[in-house]
Amino acid sequence: MIEHRDKFASLLISSLIIHTISAATDSFNISESIRDGETLVSSGGMFALGFFSLGNSTNRYLGIYYNNIKPNTYVWVANREAPLPTKSGSLTVTESGLLLLLNGTNGTVWSSASATTRKVQNPTVELLDSGNLVVRDADNDGTDIFLWQSFDHPTDTYLPGMISLGWDLDKRVETYLSSWRGHDDPGPGEFTAHLDPTGYPQIVVRRGETVKFRLGPWNGVRFSGSPGTRNNPTLRMNKDEVKYGEDNVEKSVIARLTLSLDGVGVRWIWNNQSKRWTTHNLEADPCDTYNACGAFGVCSAGDSPMCRCMDRFVHRDEGNLSQGCVARTALACGGDVFLKYSGMKLPDARNTTFDERKMLPADCEAECLKRCSCTAFKQLDIREETSGCLFYYGELLDVRTMPVGGDELYIRIASTDLGKDAHAKRVKLKASLASMAAAAVLICLGLIFLCVWKRKKDSNPYNEGKFSGSLGHDADLPFFNLPLILKATNNFSTDNKLGEGGFGPVYKGVLENGQEIAVKRLSKSSKQGVDELKNEVILIAKLQHRNLVRTLGCCAEGEESMLIYEYMPNNSLDFVLFDETKSMSLDWRKRFNIITGIAKGLLYLHQDSRLRIIHRDLKASNILLDTEMNPKISDFGLARSFGGSETQAQTSRVVGTYGYMSPEYAIDGMFSIKSDVFSFGVLVLETVSGKRNRGFCHEQNQNSLNLLGYAWTLSIEGRSCDLVDPCLGELFDLSEALRSIQVGLLCVQTCQEDRPSMSEVVFMLGNQVELPVPKQPGFFAGRDVVPGRSYSSSNATNSDNQVTITWSQGR
Ligand SMILES: *[C@@H]1O[C@H](CO)[C@@H](O)[C@H](O)[C@H]1NC(C)=O
Ligand SMILES: *[C@@H]1O[C@H](CO)[C@@H](O)[C@H](O)[C@H]1NC(C)=O
Ligand SMILES: *[C@@H]1O[C@H](CO)[C@@H](O)[C@H](O)[C@H]1NC(C)=O
Ligand SMILES: *[C@@H]1O[C@H](CO)[C@@H](O)[C@H](O)[C@H]1NC(C)=O
Ligand SMILES: *[C@@H]1O[C@H](CO)[C@@H](O)[C@H](O)[C@H]1NC(C)=O
Ligand SMILES: *[C@@H]1O[C@H](CO)[C@@H](O)[C@H](O)[C@H]1NC(C)=O
Ligand SMILES: *[C@@H]1O[C@H](CO)[C@@H](O)[C@H](O)[C@H]1NC(C)=O
Repeated sequence: MIEHRDKFASLLISSLIIHTISAATDSFNISESIRDGETLVSSGGMFALGFFSLGNSTNRYLGIYYNNIKPNTYVWVANREAPLPTKSGSLTVTESGLLLLLNGTNGTVWSSASATTRKVQNPTVELLDSGNLVVRDADNDGTDIFLWQSFDHPTDTYLPGMISLGWDLDKRVETYLSSWRGHDDPGPGEFTAHLDPTGYPQIVVRRGETVKFRLGPWNGVRFSGSPGTRNNPTLRMNKDEVKYGEDNVEKSVIARLTLSLDGVGVRWIWNNQSKRWTTHNLEADPCDTYNACGAFGVCSAGDSPMCRCMDRFVHRDEGNLSQGCVARTALACGGDVFLKYSGMKLPDARNTTFDERKMLPADCEAECLKRCSCTAFKQLDIREETSGCLFYYGELLDVRTMPVGGDELYIRIASTDLGKDAHAKRVKLKASLASMAAAAVLICLGLIFLCVWKRKKDSNPYNEGKFSGSLGHDADLPFFNLPLILKATNNFSTDNKLGEGGFGPVYKGVLENGQEIAVKRLSKSSKQGVDELKNEVILIAKLQHRNLVRTLGCCAEGEESMLIYEYMPNNSLDFVLFDETKSMSLDWRKRFNIITGIAKGLLYLHQDSRLRIIHRDLKASNILLDTEMNPKISDFGLARSFGGSETQAQTSRVVGTYGYMSPEYAIDGMFSIKSDVFSFGVLVLETVSGKRNRGFCHEQNQNSLNLLGYAWTLSIEGRSCDLVDPCLGELFDLSEALRSIQVGLLCVQTCQEDRPSMSEVVFMLGNQVELPVPKQPGFFAGRDVVPGRSYSSSNATNSDNQVTITWSQGR
C-alpha cells in the first residue's frame, strides 16, 4: 500500500522519474523505488516504512514505525548517522540485492552493505508485519533466507521476534543496541546494550567502555536477574553464533524494548484501551546499578543498610559499604567448603569457565576445590541437575537478592571459618530481618508499657467510658485521654479526615512524640456501632500478627469512643489497586506479597489465634498498606469470635459488602470461615487483575460476566495469563500468577466444601504442588448480588477431574 502523504511533492518528483511503485504493495523490486512522501506498509498493516523528520530539525530519515500508533514511534532508522538535508531521498534495491538510499543527485547516503556471495536472481524488498525490512531473492522460492534484514541491524529498539542480539562468531560481527543521541537525533549515543559471551553469556549495558547494568549469566531459561519468562527468552549458542532473542507469548500484544537516551532498558507495552504506552524500566532500584555493593557484597533493595557481605565475609570499609567485602579467613586452597545461597542474581560471569559434561553439584564442588582460584560454582542449567557447572574465579561482583526468580550459587569459604556451625549449609540472609522484627516487638512492648504506666499515673482514667469494667480487665489496651486525641487530630479537623468507615469517620493524627496515628471515631448516632466497636476492641486486643493492623489503644470518654491504630501511609488496597496511575507502583512482587500476606493474616484469624475469628467483611478497602506495601487486615468491627469447635453460624442481619460475599452468606445469611475464604478469593483475583469484581466490565466481555466468571472463562480457555493486570506488562512471575489465579478460583467455588481452608491456601501459594481444577465459581455472571434471590448450584460435572493432594504441613 502506498500512502501519498505529501501528494504535491511526490507528483513533482514522479514526473521526473520513470519508475514508480505502481500499485498498493508491501514490497518492491529493482524496477521500483520508494521516495520521500511514499510509504511501504506491511501486509498486516502493523508497520510502515517511510521518510520523516524529528522535532524542529529539517533532516530527513528513513525508518520504520507503527502504522496505527500516533505520534509515530520509530523502531528502526536506516540513515541514523547520515541524514538527508532535503525531501529528495529515495530507496532502491540493486540487482545484487543491495539496498541504497539515494539523495537528490543519486549519491548514495546509506546502503545495506550486505556482502552476499550468492548469485541473486530477482531481489525483492519487503516490509514484514513483524517490523522486519528484508531483501529476499524472489526467484529462490521456498527458502526464507534473507539476503539482508533490518532485524540484524537494530538501532535502539528491540522488537519481538528478533533473535539477533549477540555475535556471529564466524564473521566476528556483533549485533547490539545503541541509544539515540537526542530526542531529535537518532544517531548512535554513548550507551550500548550487548550480549557479552565472555565467560558465559550475559546482557551488559555500557556507557562507552564502562559497565552500567548487567543481567545474567544465562541459566538455561533466562538471564539471571531478569523476571519471568513471559517474553519467551531464547539463547542460541553454537560454534557459529551466540545470539539472544525474545518473542511475544501473546501475539496480540504490541511490545518493544528500547535503550533510552540515558541508557536504561525500557519495556514498552501498548495499552489498546488507553491508547498509551506503559513502560517498565529494567533498572528499577539502586541494586540494579552495576556492582552497587562491591566484591563479595550482596545488595538487597529496601533493606537498611542496602549492602551486606556474603556470609563469613566482612566489609572492607565500614564507612563505605560499596567498597565490598573480604573473606574473614583467607581461603586455604585445600579443605575449603561451600555455602549455598538462593534467590540471587548471579555474579558477573566474565571471569568464569564452564563444563558442559553431565555433572552433579557434588562433582562441580570437587572440581572447583581442585582449582585454587575458583571462588564459587553453580549449575549451568536450572532445568537439569546434571547440566554441568559454571566456575567463578576471583572476586564475585554485582550480586543482589531477587524478589522473584533468583538463582542458586555455592560460594567457597575456608573450612576453619565454619567453626561450630559446620552443619549450617544454608545462609541465613534473612537474619537481619528477624532481628528487626525482634526490635519491633521490643519497641511495641515498650510502647504498651509506657501507655499502661501513663494510664496509672493519669488521675483521670476511663471510668466514664462505655467499656469500663469489661475493658479494664479484659484487654491490656492502652488508653489515650480525649484532650490528647483532640490535639493530635487538630480537633477532628476535616483536613485530617482520612475517610468514612462503616461506623464513623477515620482521622489522621500526630501524637506529641511525632508518631502518626489513625483514629476511628465512633459516630454518636450509630447505636449498633457501639457494640461493634466494643467487639472490635476486645478482639483486637488479643490479636498480634504482622498482617493485621496494630491497634495502639482506645479512648472512651463521655460521648466519645474511639480506636487508635497505627497510621498506614499508603492507604488501603482499593485506593492503590484500582487507580490507573497508582497501580503502577504495585509491581508483581508487591502484589504477590499482598496476596500471601492477606492469606497469612486470615489464617491467623481463622486458626492460629487463640480465638477462631471470622472477619466477615474482607475487601480491598479493609486491607491497609504500610510503607513497604505490606498488607494489614483491618476493621474487625464485624468479626465474630467463636469458641472452640464452633465453625458456622447464622445471622438475621446480613452485613458485609456485595461483590465479596459468598453465595451462602448473601442468600441464606450463613457464614463460616469458608465465607471469608470466598472473599479472599475475590481479593486475589482483584489483586492479580487490578480490576474490581463489583462493576467489572471488559471490552471482550459480551456475556456480562463478572470478574469471577471472566477469570474462570479465561482459565478453561487456557488464557489465564490475560487476566494479569496489563499495567504489569511482561514483568511478572508467570508461575506465581497462574498459581494465584487458580487458588483465587478455588476460593470462590459455589459450594463451601469445594473451597480450600486458609492453611491449604497458604500452602498452595507457597509450594509447587499440583492444584485441584476449579469448577465454575459462585456468582458466575451478573454484576451484583441480590440477597434473597434464588440461586441454583452450578452444573459441576467435572468433579472427576479433581486432583487430590495431600497437605504435608510439617509445622
Ligand atoms: C517488479 O515487480 C513488478 C510488479 O510486481 C513486476 O511486474 C515486474 O516484472 C518486476 N520486475 C522484475 C525485474 O522482476
Ligand atoms: C522548536 O521550535 C519551537 C518554536 O520555535 C520552540 O519553542 C521549541 O523549543 C523548539 N524545540 C526544540 C526541541 O528545539
Ligand atoms: C537518478 O536515477 C533515476 C533512476 O535511475 C533517474 O531517472 C534520474 O534521472 C537520476 N537523477 C539524477 C539527478 O541523476
Ligand atoms: C548526494 O550524495 C553525494 C555522495 O554522498 C554527494 O557528493 C552529493 O553532494 C549529494 N548531493 C546532494 C544534493 O546533497
Ligand atoms: C485494539 O482495539 C481496536 C478497536 O479499538 C481493535 O480493532 C484492535 O484489534 C485492537 N488491537 C489489538 C492488538 O488488540
Ligand atoms: C564509596 O566507594 C565507592 C566505590 O569505590 C566510590 O565510588 C564512592 O565514591 C565511595 N563513597 C564515598 C562516600 O566515599
Ligand atoms: C579472574 O580471576 C583471576 C583469579 O583471581 C584473576 O587473577 C584475574 O585477574 C581475573 N580476571 C579478570 C578479567 O577479572
